[in-house]
Amino acid sequence: MKRLNRRDFIKGAAVLSGAAICGAGTVKQVMAEETAPAAQAEAPPFPWGYQELDPEYVRKLGHLGYYLEECGGGAFWAIMTALKEKIGYPYTLMPLPTKEQFVEHLTNPEEGKHFQVPMQYGVGGVANFGSLCGAPNGSASAITFAMPFNDVLDIVPRLMRYYETEAFPTDKSNKYAAGHEFLVPKYKSDKALLQSPSDSVLCHVSVGKWCEKSGYASGSKERSERCARVTGDVAAMAVTLMNAKLRGDLDTVFPMQLSHDTAGCRTCHSKGEKYESGQFTRGFMECGNCHDDKMEPHKGHNKLKTAYGADVGTWAGAAVVGTIAGIGAHAVNKRVGRGKNDDEE
Ligand code: HEC
Ligand code: HEC
Repeated sequence: MKRLNRRDFIKGAAVLSGAAICGAGTVKQVMAEETAPAAQAEAPPFPWGYQELDPEYVRKLGHLGYYLEECGGGAFWAIMTALKEKIGYPYTLMPLPTKEQFVEHLTNPEEGKHFQVPMQYGVGGVANFGSLCGAPNGSASAITFAMPFNDVLDIVPRLMRYYETEAFPTDKSNKYAAGHEFLVPKYKSDKALLQSPSDSVLCHVSVGKWCEKSGYASGSKERSERCARVTGDVAAMAVTLMNAKLRGDLDTVFPMQLSHDTAGCRTCHSKGEKYESGQFTRGFMECGNCHDDKMEPHKGHNKLKTAYGADVGTWAGAAVVGTIAGIGAHAVNKRVGRGKNDDEE
């Protein structure tokens, strides 16, 4: 197929319309053939658009995707593949392997064959570094292909919060595996696996807590299967949130609710210009996951200085902080719930 850029196409069309004076019938046919590749040669700007997808189908694709692309690539591939199947162009421009190719390769593995997809680097919390889990990372990337960025900022923090609070793998995933309803030809494990929430979006914490509770090693088949199910679960939630956004009921489907503790900390520790009141940090992660009694905030003498060199460790004593945090938590959660937060850039 000849690939044309827009300028070539216009030139070609001009020539053809000249020719049309002579033989209209044949020209029409030529035009039709030339138009298809010309229209597909250039990718339109993002976002590429969204139509409601079936979360259960995407859950199954995510699980399958993990078997060849692990968490980051798997979640990305699952959502993009469902969009490609449903919407077609421009998603067809993404050179992604098909579901059939995946199943075929898992059935009869071809020696030395690799499928590389975008977001695959998300594996093991970014190239095995143990930071952000690839499942929300890959999903968030797919969401950014499909939706306007304001919507991305409304959806992704909810997906992250879902990740912190859900006891993975979900009942649905465990049930699909036990009943062999996923798309893989052969399971790493089809047992119902232990379900545990990690209170964290970090791969390191998510895998570590699960391994500790289940007794399976991080290199076990069961741990790998658990992460395949997590990939499906997170991709399914991403699609559930996008569907809700499309219908305009995101706040009903998944209200953004920080823990009471985190909301409390954020009354002072949010992104802002008042250094002295604690605005030298940012973020929504579950604070208590790290700042527990071993990382005692406000108990020891603080080493932090303001930009002017003044010691700010004297006024914010633990008791004061506790009281203010309680009152502030409510207000913060209300703000976040409305999708308005001060950490958006
Ligand atoms: C009432 C405002 C306020 C609240 C609420 C608050 N902080 Fe702070 N925090 C400060 C200020 C001001 C400082 C810098 C001075 C200091 O250390 O007291 C600080 C310092 C810190 C520090 C660095 C110094 C240290 O003491 O270790 C950590 C860590 C910290 N806060 C964590 C938290 C966490 C976690 C929460 C929620 C559980 C929280 N803070 C709630 C105001 C607050
Ligand atoms: C993944 C672990 C983790 C989470 C979750 C976390 N923190 Fe921290 N935080 C740290 C580490 C590590 C430091 C650096 C500690 C040090 O230097 O002693 C830190 C430092 C801080 C400081 C001191 C300023 C600084 O940069 O050294 C504040 C204040 C703070 N965190 C508040 C929070 C708040 C509020 C939350 C929740 C919104 C939170 N943290 C979530 C790990 C975490």
